[in-house]
Amino acid sequence: MWQTRLATASLLLVVAHALNCPENYHEIGSGCVLAPAERLPALEAQSLCHDLQGELATLDRCDIFTDAVHYLEETGAMYNSYWIRGTYSVTRDEWQWRDGSVVAMGAPFWGTAGGGNWEPYGGDCAAIFNGDNPYMGAFGCIAEFLHICEGPPTAEGHCNLPFTAVGSQCLSFDSSARQTWEASRNICQADGGDLVTFDNCEQFGVVANYILEQDLQHMTVYWVGGYLVDETNNYFWLNNSSIPMGLPYWGQYLFENLGTLLPDNPTVERCLELGYEYRHRFNDLDCLELRRPLCMASPVE
Ligand SMILES: *[C@@H]1O[C@H](CO)[C@@H](O)[C@H](O)[C@H]1NC(C)=O
Ligand SMILES: *[C@@H]1O[C@H](CO)[C@@H](O)[C@H](O)[C@H]1NC(C)=O
Repeated sequence: MWQTRLATASLLLVVAHALNCPENYHEIGSGCVLAPAERLPALEAQSLCHDLQGELATLDRCDIFTDAVHYLEETGAMYNSYWIRGTYSVTRDEWQWRDGSVVAMGAPFWGTAGGGNWEPYGGDCAAIFNGDNPYMGAFGCIAEFLHICEGPPTAEGHCNLPFTAVGSQCLSFDSSARQTWEASRNICQADGGDLVTFDNCEQFGVVANYILEQDLQHMTVYWVGGYLVDETNNYFWLNNSSIPMGLPYWGQYLFENLGTLLPDNPTVERCLELGYEYRHRFNDLDCLELRRPLCMASPVE
């Protein structure tokens, strides 16, 4: 897994959070990376990443791969090779990342080189070759290459109980009795947080999918930290920045086979619910209805 560190965010009225990279690491959008200047065999590169509180990078997704390659293109000289954490397992006869997950073969990660053969061939350790067309290749692990560290630990362990790391956020899915929106907010604040808000659609997606995976949708629906501001007819996050309308945040209310985009009832429904009946999208709801608090807190060191 790509690892990120979340620095202690400023605790203003609103709980803020951000992807902050530790000293010397560079934020590349999908994570934090560092390419030390030493050329080392793969195992020693791994040790050096450990010394830097990181790991050799796992580039198991398109966005991470792309961001890391752009970083190398911007910072490194051409035609260098950089160790990453993929290794060939003889016992399982497959390429694995550090967590044992299988390295996807073929495009767009691995390249073809030397006579058009598809990588990986000719070695047991994976590296990025930063040529005119950066790709992953297999090399003998004793080759002395540069390397990409990712780091450091995930938000896990950086969330105080009762919060757990979900993507880049520390969340708690309170299972106590259903509450009004205001009472839910008070519960979150008593735990040092506030009702959850989302910075972008990706963050929202991570949380909605987590609810699905953990089967939390059967327990309840949740209050979210958004509300309608009287004079405006617009929904705002707790920090008073406006919530985008329409897709992909808001659900549709089906009535007589016609879908009405929510929110649809500003005179009565002035609080934000995350409801599975709306395909895990937002719904406007009367603030006095009872839902469970979905709380968010700042990650801690
Ligand atoms: C307000 O909260 C939203 C949702 O978490 C966040 O994306 C935005 O950056 C915040 N705005 C300010 C000014 O802090
Ligand atoms: C948001 O606006 C409300 C109402 O105007 C105000 O009471 C509150 O202090 C504001 N919150 C922030 C974080 O600015």
